[in-house]
Amino acid sequence: MEQRPLGKTGAEVGVIGLGTWQLGGDWGDVDEDTAAEVLDAALDAGVTLLDTADVYGDGRSEERIRKALAPRADRPFVATKAGRRADPFEAAQYTPENLRAWVDRSRRNLGVDTLDLVQLHCPPTAVYSDQHVFDTLDGFVADGSIAAYGVSVETVAEGLTALQHEGVATIQVILNIFRRKPLEELLPAAAAAGVGVLARVPLASGLLTGKYDESTTFPADDHRNFNRNGEAFDVGETFAGVPFDVGVAAAREVAEIAGDAVPTAAFALRWVIDQPGVTTVIPGARNVTQVRGNVAAATMAPLSGSQLADLERVYDERIRAHVHDRW
Ligand SMILES: NC(=O)c1ccc[n+]([C@@H]2O[C@H](COP(=O)([O-])OP(=O)(O)OC[C@H]3O[C@@H](n4cnc5c(N)ncnc54)[C@H](OP(=O)(O)O)[C@@H]3O)[C@@H](O)[C@H]2O)c1
Repeated sequence: MEQRPLGKTGAEVGVIGLGTWQLGGDWGDVDEDTAAEVLDAALDAGVTLLDTADVYGDGRSEERIRKALAPRADRPFVATKAGRRADPFEAAQYTPENLRAWVDRSRRNLGVDTLDLVQLHCPPTAVYSDQHVFDTLDGFVADGSIAAYGVSVETVAEGLTALQHEGVATIQVILNIFRRKPLEELLPAAAAAGVGVLARVPLASGLLTGKYDESTTFPADDHRNFNRNGEAFDVGETFAGVPFDVGVAAAREVAEIAGDAVPTAAFALRWVIDQPGVTTVIPGARNVTQVRGNVAAATMAPLSGSQLADLERVYDERIRAHVHDRW
């Protein structure tokens, strides 16, 4: 798999990573054995970056990663996140003491002395302007409890603010065929600053596989059911903020543009990794077949000029009005 330098971390990672929110919770049940198989399949297929967070299943995703890695000789880069344990969820909670406690808990969950990367997990916007938070993270790098830190942002504006802090090694942002705004300013700015970009929600929570229709339903414990209107967290994290019926119809067009020879999911991931400034994409997967299908994007041909133009038309006609000026 093609490897790229991950911003200021000093690490090189494969262009297709694995998102592991599904292995913690919020996507219906993913049992212990399936989670282990997904992780093994990803690593066996050449994935070298896992994305997790301390709140995915309240630590279950991190713990499952620790267990899966324990018997293996190879060790991927593990990017975790901190900050959404804040209670109440407000900027004042981002104290040195709380950050210390969150980071130490992730070190225990993952069974390591030094975390490869801690990303601030979509904190309140004011946190990006709080130099004390970044000073605290610099202190954790200095004492060896983390090797590097980055941010996971909701909006382009938050990403641009975060880039003003020298120590920020990476930015994670929603980027997919239905979420293009980061291409305008954020990705060029990140590239100029030598900051790596992890593209999340690359399949718009599964919409961009083309496999759902207007009658598809999701279980009660799946955010695609309980967060449809942003009831639990930012609605942009569910179907990339695209209303479900709008997304289904647009995804049908995307599948036609991809054609019969290429799975739509891999086509959508190839689009992401070919955007200048992207380091890696982190699709989530609920089973081994999905992992393998996603890794296949790394060896696919780039999209043609006419396919790219057609995708842009679909965005402009069906999607832009719902998302572009929102995040
Ligand atoms: N705030 C944050 O920092 C934040 C927020 C969101 C996500 N993330 C990270 O980003 C990762 C990726 O985003 P995401 O998981 O939300 O969304 P995503 O990657 O866009 O979509 C994942 C879903 O797509 C479907 N899928 C994946 N591969 C497939 C394949 N080859 N064929 C058919 N269907 C496939 C599955 O849906 P089914 O379940 O229907 O099979 C899967 O659950 C997460 O796992 C997490 O690590 C971070």
